[in-house]
Amino acid sequence: MTTPPALTAHIATARANSNLALIKYWGNRSDALRLPANGSISIGLAGLFTITTVAFRADLTADQITIEEQRAPEQAAARVSHHLDHVRQLAGVTQRAEVTSRNNFPTGAGIASSASAFAALTLAAATALQLSLTERELSAIARLGSGSASRSIPGGYVEWHVGDRHSDSYAETIAPPDHWALCDLIAVVSRAHKSTGSTEGHAIAATSPFQVARVAGAVERLAICRKAILDRDFDALAAIAEVDSTLMHAVMMTGTPALFYWQPATLAVMESVRTWRSAGIPVFYTIDAGANVHCLCPAAQADAIAGRLKAIPGVTDVLRALPGGPAEVIDKADEVIAHGNPHP
Ligand code: PMV
Repeated sequence: MTTPPALTAHIATARANSNLALIKYWGNRSDALRLPANGSISIGLAGLFTITTVAFRADLTADQITIEEQRAPEQAAARVSHHLDHVRQLAGVTQRAEVTSRNNFPTGAGIASSASAFAALTLAAATALQLSLTERELSAIARLGSGSASRSIPGGYVEWHVGDRHSDSYAETIAPPDHWALCDLIAVVSRAHKSTGSTEGHAIAATSPFQVARVAGAVERLAICRKAILDRDFDALAAIAEVDSTLMHAVMMTGTPALFYWQPATLAVMESVRTWRSAGIPVFYTIDAGANVHCLCPAAQADAIAGRLKAIPGVTDVLRALPGGPAEVIDKADEVIAHGNPHP
């Protein structure tokens, strides 16, 4: 047996933004490796982030996981520990870790907290163990914790490649954050924790007769979306992102068991956005595994459209995010968590 390397510094803190998929990931080809059924494209969400500190300590006999200042429930803690095992294995260490993690946005409500959480955890753990990994390697490892976390390692406009083995299934930047100032206005209609999480949802996807068609068309939708982003073609992006979101929800609604995430206010926002767009206002929507509606518009129109969204009955808040940068190691002393809307 080889002796594990001595650790000089065993603590690190990382911050990762959440991300919003414009072409959605739904369903796995391999659940164990979280190899996705199809590729996806997302935007990093600046200011909607997770900050995670990982400290490997010789005196611990088990990982200690604290999320939002509370001891993590058993299932969440087991998922974090399992993820740390991948990083420990790469570094050849067995030390347990103390993990503290906080989000600055509501968890479990269709704003992907698992994406930012597993990206921040991966980067903090790898840094604490002094692993020298490429962005691609970090993205692939983050994917093992939560598929969409692969897209929260790089910054800006990001594409996650399907890949057919662990090392090939990773995400990379297709355009930097300043390529196009699109604003995500998140119309919050529910802050409740979603009833069916995405891990369970991915496992159900294949039971829908629509999943085969959704996946078969994904390569073409990815190409249209990628081109629309590179050309800054708002209308083309609006059309492809809305249909892709609806395709995913059609799969969700027709699986066994059926998953319905929309609330009446979700539909009210969708209807308003479509009406505004047909009147020439540049805005479109996309919805993840939750009731809240992500409304995308050019940043210059964000104030006016946020005002309109707030006036819709059932919309309790509107969060805002511009395209965000990559996951970063930060100095714990610089840690700033603004609770609530970071951009009121
Ligand atoms: O990474 P997961 O397992 O939380 O899945 C994310 C699924 C969606 O948010 C609904 C779509 C996506 O591509 O982010």
